[in-house]
Amino acid sequence: MPQRAYVIDEMISAKAIAARVEELAKEITQTFRGTDQLVVVGLLRGSFVFIADLVREIDLPVEVDFLEASSYGDAMESSREVRLIKDLSGEIQGRDVLVVEDIVDTGFTLHHVIHMLRARGPRRLETIALLDKPARREAEVKATWTGFEIPDEFVVGYGIDYAQRNRNLPFIGKVRFTEAE
Ligand code: IMP
Repeated sequence: MPQRAYVIDEMISAKAIAARVEELAKEITQTFRGTDQLVVVGLLRGSFVFIADLVREIDLPVEVDFLEASSYGDAMESSREVRLIKDLSGEIQGRDVLVVEDIVDTGFTLHHVIHMLRARGPRRLETIALLDKPARREAEVKATWTGFEIPDEFVVGYGIDYAQRNRNLPFIGKVRFTEAE
């Protein structure tokens, strides 16, 4: 549970997200057109809302799978060490894979996941992140598609949490603390 009181200021509206998701899905459909081997892999838990909206706009046969890697836990800082908590249920060898991430922050999570999945021999592997905080990057990684670049702010909503709360907000909001630490 969060220790300090905070408010959430809207940063990206639900409408703006929906419009961007539609655009991204069109590009993805175009990029992967002709395949019936697409597996869309969501990184739990933060991508669950994004992946749900995204796959419904992709006009291709898709399978959906999930994996969970450790990141912040309940804190606001990346641990740098990425651990696999839940692996994929299916095989990806010879498949076309789209990895769906909520936010690329330091980049350690996406970097690690790409490395791990490439070793399994997919035919093609692309990545998409709803949000990108380029100012925070430490690992060299860039998603194939990015929804929105945002400044170095802690955000919640649309699947993204602070201490497991606020995932159910329909918009992306910035956390603003109202009490000193
Ligand atoms: P990275 O490994 O530092 O790129 O961290 C990626 C993960 O950290 C994301 O998938 C999120 O789960 C979490 N994260 C990064 N920034 C934020 C934020 O602003 N709010 C909530 N979670 C975040």
